[in-house]
Amino acid sequence: MSRRPIIAGNWKLNKTHSEARQFLLKLRNGIAGIDNPPEVLICPPSVVLETAVDATREGGIAIGAQNVYWESAGAFTGEISTEMLESLGVSHVLIGHSERRALFGESDEDVNRKLLKVLSGTLTPVVCVGEVLAEREAGKTEHVVVEQVKNALLGVAHEHARRIVLAYEPVWAIGTGLSATPDQANTVHGLIRRSVGAIFGDAVADELRVLYGGSVNPDNTAGLMAESDVDGVLVGGASLDAGAFAGIIRAAV
Ligand code: PGA
Repeated sequence: MSRRPIIAGNWKLNKTHSEARQFLLKLRNGIAGIDNPPEVLICPPSVVLETAVDATREGGIAIGAQNVYWESAGAFTGEISTEMLESLGVSHVLIGHSERRALFGESDEDVNRKLLKVLSGTLTPVVCVGEVLAEREAGKTEHVVVEQVKNALLGVAHEHARRIVLAYEPVWAIGTGLSATPDQANTVHGLIRRSVGAIFGDAVADELRVLYGGSVNPDNTAGLMAESDVDGVLVGGASLDAGAFAGIIRAAV
């Protein structure tokens, strides 16, 4: 099964309106002419989404949000809904990034609620999972990741399962410069694929795209992408520089 790779950038709390526009114009030029391009996704802060959608109207770059709420409207100060994102022309949304989990108290249950809400609309969810260092050192990686995947997918209808993208982001590799090795990533990706297959069947598992995230840079991308179960990367720090991010995209093809 050939799965179209996704190269995604997560800007986190970075870039103003004008910085975002400049970046996207530069990226567009930086990746022009690539044969057989991967899906390219940028996830800017929510206040910059409209600018980003506007700057990418020519296509080739999709725009995603970094977070969303599970209610459509109401007294939920500070939150944004799937409907708001859809109305802006946003196509993707990250769910359950480890920073949301660790710094903002997002639980597996919250991740599941968000995923179900997203699947009731048109956005493509990118669900993030991953173990912390102590869990890896205690030999619990497999258990932790499988539980996060299963809990996220609770109650997902079979016909919606094909829309889901998963991202394996070992927390110890995020922002540390210490990427998982291609082999470490591939092992967990295979496990994620089998977990999804156990719930939704082999056809869904075969199509499922599993991205790796954690200290991805232009130099380690090709090695990661060479692995059979690595279908793309989710990039934090190195996605802030248009040249570096274009380098990652080129290394991935
Ligand atoms: P990093 O972040 O590439 O800076 O390690 C990855 C992420 O948090 O998605």
